[in-house]
Amino acid sequence: MDGVTDAAMRYMVAKYGHPDYLFTEFVSVDALHHATGERRERLLKTFVKARDVGHWLQSSDHSPIISQGSELREIAQIFGHNIEYFKEAAELIESLGFDGIDINMGCPMHKVEDQGSGAGLIRTPEIAKEIVLAVKSATKLPVSVKTRIGVDRDIAEEWMEQLMEVKPAFISLHGRTLRQLYSGSADWEAIGRAARVVHKHGGIIFGNGDVESIVDAQAKAAKYGVDGILIGRSAEGNPGIFSELQSSEHSLTQGSELWVQRQIQRLIEHAQVFEKIFKPQIEKEGDYRWFMPMRKHLAWYCKGFEGAVEMRAKLMLTNSVSEVEQIVSSLRDFLPQV
Ligand SMILES: Cc1cc2nc3c(=O)[nH]c(=O)nc-3n(C[C@H](O)[C@H](O)[C@H](O)COP(=O)(O)O)c2cc1C
Repeated sequence: MDGVTDAAMRYMVAKYGHPDYLFTEFVSVDALHHATGERRERLLKTFVKARDVGHWLQSSDHSPIISQGSELREIAQIFGHNIEYFKEAAELIESLGFDGIDINMGCPMHKVEDQGSGAGLIRTPEIAKEIVLAVKSATKLPVSVKTRIGVDRDIAEEWMEQLMEVKPAFISLHGRTLRQLYSGSADWEAIGRAARVVHKHGGIIFGNGDVESIVDAQAKAAKYGVDGILIGRSAEGNPGIFSELQSSEHSLTQGSELWVQRQIQRLIEHAQVFEKIFKPQIEKEGDYRWFMPMRKHLAWYCKGFEGAVEMRAKLMLTNSVSEVEQIVSSLRDFLPQV
């Protein structure tokens, strides 16, 4: 998720959630082609893998994230509409050691879809299919597609028929149209109908949209016949969501002392990891812009307990891990026994 699933967030999810798949934020193939210097360096940070973060951190206090025999597959997501740039991006992603390449055909942002990229590709299935084939020809990695059920109405069944002609490794389907953006609710009946089409062709489909917990995910997978579930927003401030059932921490009740303690420990760890990855080697005096993307994560951890509102307001003004740590310790007396 753009602006959310950076390498620090994916590290936290890999460590505490143990999902089967992890997707990067989407990256523009045009930007990858044109960017140079600092801009390119920033773009390439999007493609830092969670397991590489884990290796860097092994020498510090953090425990390794990936247990032996882990099945975690890290997928790089790209978007655009220029076939040659897609091929270049595919070669780059393969050289970086990813486990798969996902093509975004679901982004509804005007500046993306208006150029015929993201969900705009639903309007031009021939170009969409050409892109999948071009990426497949440029890499040995599995090539998948993330998309929506239509542009202004549900056309998921015919859209799946089209996509299955080029046999993506799997399709992730968000149950909203482009026009809906994120409003209303995801249409899981449409996802269920799409799943039947994909399965008829021997394909794999993951459903997505408004899933709130692992229990909800399992119920939806069974009811609508999908092969897996993607969870987005419910993982914000909750990186363990993917493994609640397996985890002994599952029994922690939201708002309980142990739960609050865990949230705050994770908030601090997340900020520490973020700082390790994104703090510039030479920090310009008074320039804390690099820390700004971390603030929303701090807010997401700070919900559902007494004192959370006050803590959130203070954390929203922080510019570094040490400031985060200071605030947490200054509020200790007000929090439930942290
Ligand atoms: C801030 C934000 C950024 C997103 N960025 C991406 C993205 O880069 N790639 C993508 O495939 N989907 C992206 N999405 C869509 C989500 O992956 C997901 O399809 C959508 O939020 C519905 O799932 P959820 O209800 O589990 O969040 C984004 C969503 C949000 C809210």
